[in-house]
Amino acid sequence: MSFSNAIKPVRKAVFPVAGLGTRFLPATKVMPKEMLPLVDRPLIQHAIDEARDAGIEEFIFITGRAKEMLETHFDHQPELMETLEKRGKHDLLEKVKATALPEGSLFLTRQAKPLGLGHAIWCARKLVGNEPFAILLPDDVVLAKKGCLSQMIETYNEIGGNIVGVMDVPREQTASYGILDIKTDDGKLVDIKGLVEKPKPEDAPSTLSVIGRYILQPEVFDHLASFEKGAGGEIQITDAMAKLIGKQPFHGLRYEGQRYDCGSRLGFIEANIAFGMEDPEIGKQVRDLVKRFAA
Ligand code: G1P
Repeated sequence: MSFSNAIKPVRKAVFPVAGLGTRFLPATKVMPKEMLPLVDRPLIQHAIDEARDAGIEEFIFITGRAKEMLETHFDHQPELMETLEKRGKHDLLEKVKATALPEGSLFLTRQAKPLGLGHAIWCARKLVGNEPFAILLPDDVVLAKKGCLSQMIETYNEIGGNIVGVMDVPREQTASYGILDIKTDDGKLVDIKGLVEKPKPEDAPSTLSVIGRYILQPEVFDHLASFEKGAGGEIQITDAMAKLIGKQPFHGLRYEGQRYDCGSRLGFIEANIAFGMEDPEIGKQVRDLVKRFAA
């Protein structure tokens, strides 16, 4: 398999949303965890908005049982819009309008068994086809001036290949992330010589970790198809990505911005405070509130 020099544009993004969200029970007993609101937008919408800002045209959900609310959220809702219009609630109307995806741009497929993130991505192979694509894990939210995926696509359009968003973590946390084995590092862009999923701190080749933002070439599906089990007995995207290294360019990008782990309760609260402080309507009040708590 040789890597072509022509850089194909990234038009499609995959959103794995089949996970159970047990860490938020009982809140997620009925409601998908991706519908938890970060200020006034559900997590899934933060991810969709970031992808849309980055120029993504096709949105692919890997969904599962009891997740129908997610696709409904992006529907056009004429009745609600009419009511808001009649009541003169134009600011709310604009917010609701902004959620709707262009017709025919949302695609759904299902992951029937929870066999891991790599397996979830593999389920999208027919919808992605033979072109590069992005993956956004909605649990990972990045507060940034320019969206994290936009920054990655800018870099991708220059260098092509595969790019993951990366950040430094304390060594004691390496077992929660995919970790980079670094070939060269210019402080922003990292040339990767290996990737390890969730290594113990003493085994981790570095402390530079992958966050839930990826731009990958379609050849990754060939490796996912072997259904090899990795860390935690699951089919891992990290293992399939590692097999591309050496055959295709593979880089990590230290994006500008702050990533929050909204898959944990603490990270989710932190994200709500951080996004709340930046909110155009209630930002000042949230900042005052934080000051009052600190005093
Ligand atoms: C997944 C990936 C891991 C990555 C992380 C980022 O892990 O497997 O490589 O570092 O997302 O959030 P998970 O958080 O699903 O266990």
